[in-house]
Amino acid sequence: MAKVIDGKAVAAEVIEQVSAASAELEAKTGARPGLAVVIVGKDPASHVYVASKSRMAKQCGFKSVQHTLSESTTQAELESLVADLNADPEIHGILVQLPLPGHLDSDRVIQSIRPEKDVDGLHVVNAGKLMTGDLDGGLISCTPAGAMLFVRQTHGADLSGLNAVVIGRSNLFGKPMAALLLAANATITVAHSRTRDLPGICRNADILVAAVGRPQMVKADWVKPGATVIDVGINRIDAPERGEGKTRLVGDVAFDECAEKAAVITPVPGGVGPMTIAMLMANTVTAAMRSHGLTPPSF
Ligand code: GUN
Repeated sequence: MAKVIDGKAVAAEVIEQVSAASAELEAKTGARPGLAVVIVGKDPASHVYVASKSRMAKQCGFKSVQHTLSESTTQAELESLVADLNADPEIHGILVQLPLPGHLDSDRVIQSIRPEKDVDGLHVVNAGKLMTGDLDGGLISCTPAGAMLFVRQTHGADLSGLNAVVIGRSNLFGKPMAALLLAANATITVAHSRTRDLPGICRNADILVAAVGRPQMVKADWVKPGATVIDVGINRIDAPERGEGKTRLVGDVAFDECAEKAAVITPVPGGVGPMTIAMLMANTVTAAMRSHGLTPPSF
């Protein structure tokens, strides 16, 4: 049976480091890290995420501001809010919750955020720094940064000689995850829906990272014995065994069977999930310390 990574415990350690850095910033400059979270429309899942981001920011000693905009907000109104936040010296991090309603152009909004305040790491400047191996100069997308922390805790900072397979090629996760693994000297394969013989490719992975959004797609016979399996999926499925109409959360990995083959595995929930918010806090305190000329801790 594999070692099961406790994402909540690792996230709590990150949050402790963030709170200490936030206290240091306030002691030295009188300023608190400021995080602005912007949400447009009524998507219930997004509101749950945003509420927990705002709550955690307060817990870390940040100034936390939430802007809740109506479904009918125009592109110009949203970009005008981002411009105000860009200019606000008390705001160090800006997060626009995705997805935005269909009439809005997400990419234009994200690219209008000042790169130094782009705590989601989605601005082309931050994506470009990551891709060119400048890991300390920009801001890295929160979920891959969190998943990478698990990889480092398991394998150390140097992944020379290890094969890593990332299933999924999104800008939010797959691409930055692959860049982080590559920067750590892993040999990477990015697989996606057009990949041929996905099980065969996965069987070659010492580190297998699944981010496809398909419940329990990765089976035990896809997993190399002794591999590290990181599950980034969060899928809600019916759970009639819990009673009529009940549901439960599962990842992209068939956990029970894969745990028999892997050496290390992350659960869902309680694996990568808690790390996303922790790394958002880490990015915010990093941005705040840089803006005051201080050196942030490395997370
Ligand atoms: N929606 C789901 N995950 C994320 C995320 O990491 N950042 C933003 N901005 N929106 C999301």
